[in-house]
Amino acid sequence: MNIDDEFDIIITKYSLAKDLVENKLKIMMNDFVNKHNYNPIEHFKSRIKSKESIINKLNNKKLDITVDNIVNNVKDIVGIRLVCSFLTDIYDIVSLISNISQFNIIERKDYITNPKESGYTSYHLIISVPINYKGQKEFVNVEIQIRTVAQDFWASLNHKIQYKYEENIPNDIKEEMYEYSLIINQLDKKMVNLNKVVNGGK
Ligand code: GTP
Ligand code: MG
Repeated sequence: MNIDDEFDIIITKYSLAKDLVENKLKIMMNDFVNKHNYNPIEHFKSRIKSKESIINKLNNKKLDITVDNIVNNVKDIVGIRLVCSFLTDIYDIVSLISNISQFNIIERKDYITNPKESGYTSYHLIISVPINYKGQKEFVNVEIQIRTVAQDFWASLNHKIQYKYEENIPNDIKEEMYEYSLIINQLDKKMVNLNKVVNGGK
């Protein structure tokens, strides 16, 4: 089979995984709202990585374009981002996700406790979920990023900066962004405290 046909199959399988995870997350959120009368998720975005981006990633890792390399080395072909109000919501959401029986947690990265050098903060999960493709059960990886609105604001500007300068972000811009990441973290903590005062954390 040629690589274009292989890509079509990969995209089909990962689309099934995306639908499954989206549905499970919607059910999880509905249950949460029914129970607590509060929706921690401000918004929710999903995407499937383009063929070009998958190829770029393998090229960056100096790997050949093969199905095995894609499946084993590109863990964010399906990316789901959950944006919530408060830092405390992130950990609630992570624990709810961890309890979904069809989600097998493969990897956890807590970039809130351990921010990246850039100042990037978010909680990342790689999960593996079962799909059924042509009568065969297979497991597929999905990346879930969970972050606050403020962290999302920071990450989206940082992403534009990375895109514009590629590997060569000027030092003063890097430092300024790092400083803003600290301010955002302080603000996020203050918002948690204020929310506790006003709403008792609800
Ligand atoms: P890849 O970066 O996906 O090859 O894998 P990794 O193991 O390094 O994953 P990591 O958890 O570091 O990052 C994966 C995703 O997090 C990226 O695709 C981005 O969406 C996001 N991310 C990580 N670092 C940054 C950052 O410094 N700035 C921004 N804006 N996003 C970041
Ligand atoms: Mg990375």
